[in-house]
Amino acid sequence: MNDIQKTVLVIDQSGRGHAICDLFIRTDNDVIVYYAPGCSAINNSRIISVPEISLTHIDTALDFCQKHHIDFVFVSHIQSLSVGYVDRLKSAGIAVIGPSQLSARLENSKLQGKRFCEKYQISIPQYKAFNSVLAAKRHIHEINYDVVVKIDSLCDMSDGAYVCNNKQDALSAIDEINSLVSNFAVVIEEKLFGEEISIFAFVDGENYCLFPTALDYKKVYENNKGKNCDGMGSITPHTSYNNKTITLINKKIISRLLHGIKREKLDYTGFIYAGGIITESGEIKIIEINTRFGDSEAEAILPGISSNFYDLCCQALNSNLTQTIKIDNLARCSVALVQGSIASNKNHKFPGWPLGPYEKGQRITGTDHINKNKADIFFAGLKLNENAEMITTSGRVLHVVGKGRDIKEAKNNAYSELHKISFLGMKFRTDIGEF
Ligand code: AMP
Ligand code: GLY
Repeated sequence: MNDIQKTVLVIDQSGRGHAICDLFIRTDNDVIVYYAPGCSAINNSRIISVPEISLTHIDTALDFCQKHHIDFVFVSHIQSLSVGYVDRLKSAGIAVIGPSQLSARLENSKLQGKRFCEKYQISIPQYKAFNSVLAAKRHIHEINYDVVVKIDSLCDMSDGAYVCNNKQDALSAIDEINSLVSNFAVVIEEKLFGEEISIFAFVDGENYCLFPTALDYKKVYENNKGKNCDGMGSITPHTSYNNKTITLINKKIISRLLHGIKREKLDYTGFIYAGGIITESGEIKIIEINTRFGDSEAEAILPGISSNFYDLCCQALNSNLTQTIKIDNLARCSVALVQGSIASNKNHKFPGWPLGPYEKGQRITGTDHINKNKADIFFAGLKLNENAEMITTSGRVLHVVGKGRDIKEAKNNAYSELHKISFLGMKFRTDIGEF
């Protein structure tokens, strides 16, 4: 490490957060990252966890910034963006990368995201929004196509989307949502068929650079069965990534998003993530806008970036992003290891993540044995206990990311390496990287 030190504070607590910290230090030898609240189990002298900073209590970060020199703060967790982290830090005179609270409405309200896309001519499926259970059910009876029912707010356990196969599914989804939330608000949209694609750009409010795309595996079980969750793994590059798709993404999606951001005078720096479905005609329809990087797409995409990320952020802070991203051209396959039910517990009170409650605190072994030439590993829901042992703390525990010359090799490396890791109740999908 040199005498010149560059310091960044990253606000996150996820495998994505770890991947962002890793990107900063890997692409610039002078950078030190404070990672808050972070993960105590990350063993790297240049990634320093700060557990006293909270994801949602902004004063904790303000207090830290007053006591430490920080070049800029990078906010990448939606809860933090939603409570106005970026706005508060900026008004205290701190340099920040991240969208404002108003900009985060594009993600935390499905309806706002859809209206924005409509206004700026970004192709989306047809939809209607409802605040009444009765009206929502009447709509289901009236239409003659399958739908996805989406909770119009952030959800703890899932992405809040109920992909329905028939009217009865949709009616049940409405009842379930009504029992879960205090203020019923849903968006009901046409169900699309086709391959999903996760699209990412880094923006400074005026300019953008495109990042690689990924395919996220959202369903809990193999062969894309079961309910949706935050994601069980990802691959990059996306199988449909070619010059035609890149042109389509630039012209019809990211340019229009950026145009909208400017027209609405949104205060926006950092990543924007458009989730799309490639329809039979080759068109990409956007089903969600997120105002941060995807998780677990970040774990698959960011290790392949070789551009200096600290410099990129400085350019964004000065609204003069010019770089084209440099990548290592390897394929990656990221598999999430999650906290399922533990063998000793068969009473179904703890079905495991993401089906319901789970018993955390399970001891994790084997993370030191991963061959770095074959796979990277990113920590999400785990910590060190009082005996300095790694234990599980939430649903998605860690991500093992195999790399290779193609998806097949990346997949083989991910699965051969992840078998070195174990904890009670460890579950993962066995088919990430298959199509
Ligand atoms: P969202 O929270 O809007 O991203 O939805 C979560 C997941 O639900 C997506 O990644 C898709 O797997 C699925 N999904 C959402 N909207 C649609 C749609 N209109 N048609 C088909 N699947 C969808
Ligand atoms: N991988 C989906 C998400 O980050 O929302």
